[in-house]
Amino acid sequence: MKVSDTVPVCAPPFAERVVLQQPTSLSTSALWDLNGRYFLARGPAAWEEVPDYVTTSTWNGRIQAELIFGFVQDLVAQGKLGRDGRVTVLELASGTGRTAFHIDRCLQALLAESELEDIDIQLVLTDLVEANLDAARRQPWFVKAAEEGRVRFAAWDLCADEVPVPIDGPVVVLANYCFDGVPTDAYSVEDGLKALAMGISIPADADPQDARLLDQIAVHWDVVDVPDGVSYEPLLRYYEASVEGTFTLPVAGLAFIDRIRALTPASLVVVADKGPRRLDEVARDEPEEISRHGSISMNVNLHSLAWWNEHIGGNSLSCWHPGEGLDTIVMSRGVQPRALNRAFARWADLDAGTYGTIWEMASSNAPSNVGEALTLLRLCGHEPSGLELTVDVLEEGILAGEVDAATILGVLERVEATSYLPEPYDVDFDMGRLAYALEDWELARHYFGRSADALPTSTPSWTNLAAATFQCGDLEAAHSAAIQAVAFDPEDNDALEVYSWFDED
Ligand SMILES: C[S@@+](CC[C@H](N)C(=O)[O-])C[C@H]1O[C@@H](n2cnc3c(N)ncnc32)[C@H](O)[C@@H]1O
Repeated sequence: MKVSDTVPVCAPPFAERVVLQQPTSLSTSALWDLNGRYFLARGPAAWEEVPDYVTTSTWNGRIQAELIFGFVQDLVAQGKLGRDGRVTVLELASGTGRTAFHIDRCLQALLAESELEDIDIQLVLTDLVEANLDAARRQPWFVKAAEEGRVRFAAWDLCADEVPVPIDGPVVVLANYCFDGVPTDAYSVEDGLKALAMGISIPADADPQDARLLDQIAVHWDVVDVPDGVSYEPLLRYYEASVEGTFTLPVAGLAFIDRIRALTPASLVVVADKGPRRLDEVARDEPEEISRHGSISMNVNLHSLAWWNEHIGGNSLSCWHPGEGLDTIVMSRGVQPRALNRAFARWADLDAGTYGTIWEMASSNAPSNVGEALTLLRLCGHEPSGLELTVDVLEEGILAGEVDAATILGVLERVEATSYLPEPYDVDFDMGRLAYALEDWELARHYFGRSADALPTSTPSWTNLAAATFQCGDLEAAHSAAIQAVAFDPEDNDALEVYSWFDED
C-alpha cells in the first residue's frame, strides 16, 4: 500500500504551511465544513465553477422521472399505495433546482397520461444554502407548483438527524452530485483493515476564514487502527475479506439510507454521482483524490451504498455504463421492483453519463447541417444549451429554405419549455434570431424584447428588437429601441444600420 504520512495531495507549492487540522477520521475532518462554507458564500454563483451540466440535464431529469413513475406504478400495483395516495419526493442538495424542474415536468406529464393522474406527488427541494432555493422559488414552474401545493423548499443540512418534512408514506430520495461533498470515511486493507486519518495544512499567510480556503489546502494521510464501535461493521468486514488497497465509505449517504428506512417501509433512493460501482473498482493503490472546483468532491463509493441497501433488505439496481462523470444507482425497499426495473432497463444503454459523453463530442464538433442540428437538439431534450450549438446552422437552413416553419416553431416551443431562467446564456436572443429568419415578426419581437429585458444594456438585443418591431409596423417603439441600441454602443455597425432606417424616414 502506498499511503504515507507525508505525501501532500493536490498541494499548491507554497513555501510555508501551517497545520489546520491534525490527522483525524475523514468524516470528522474540517473538509466538509469548509465545503459547506464555500457553497454558503457563493450561492448560485458556485455554478460558474462547480460542474453540473450532466445532473441538471433534461436527460437526467427524464430518467429520474421515469424511475419515480415506475416506483409509483409498482406501489399501486402491489397495493402499497391508493390511486389517490401521496408520495414524497425529497431531493437532497438540490442546488438551483434545475434537476427537480426537469424531473417534475416529465413526471407530471407521465402521470397525466396514465391512470395514476390522481397520485399526489409532493416535491421537497432542500439545500444547505437558502440562496440556492430562492433561485428555484422564483421559477415560474415552481411558483405555479407551490400555488398548487405540490412543492416545498427547505434550507436544511442533509447530515442533520431530522428530515425537514413529516414523512407519512412512500418516499423517493434523490441525491445528484450530493454525497461527493459530505462526510465520507477512508480505510485501507493491507494486512487487515485499517482506517485512514487525514491532516490538513494551509499556507502560513492564508486566512482560515476565507471561503476559498479549499483552493489552498494540502492534505496528508495517516494509517491508524479502526476505532471500536465503528459504524457499518458488516460492510467493512466484507471489504476486508474481498478487496486490497484503500477505499472510502460515504457515511453521510449510508446514514441517509438508514434514516429513510426508519421512517417508511417503502422507499426509492436514486443516487447519481461519480465513483466505483463494481466490487473490483472499489479499492485503489492511493487514497481517493480530492477534486477541486471551488468546492471539493470525492468519488462516491456507489458500490457500498448498493451493498448496504441490499444488506438491510432492499433491492439495488447498479449500475450503468461509465460515462461523462456520472453513474446512477437505484435502491428500492418495500416493493417488488417490476415497473421500476423496466424503467431502469429502458435507459441501460443511454444513461445520463453516456449522454454527457455524447454532449462533449457534439460540443467539440458542432453540427454542420440542419439534420445534424435537429438531431442534436432532440438528443439533448431541447435544452437551451443545445440551441446555442445549433442556432447558426438552423438560421442558415431557414434562409436557404432547407427546413420548414413548423419544425422550427416546434423547436422553439420545446426549448422554451425546458428553459430554467436565468439560463447561463441569452437563449431568448437566439430564439429571436430563428423567429426573425422565419419572418415571424411578432414572435421575434417577443423574444428580443425578453432578451433586452434580461440584458438591458445589450446593444445586439436592442438592435434586433428595433428591427423586429419595425417589421411589425410599430415604428415609434422601433425607433426608441434603435435609440437605446446606439446609446449603449454608438459604434456598433448593426445598431447604426437599424438606426439609419429612421433617419431616412
Ligand atoms: C455539487 S452541488 C450539486 C447540486 C445539484 N444536486 C446538482 O446536481 O447540480 C452540491 C450541492 O450540495 C449543497 N450542500 C453542500 N453541503 C450540504 C449539506 N451538508 N447539506 C445539504 N446540502 C449541501 C450545496 O449547497 C450544493 O447546492
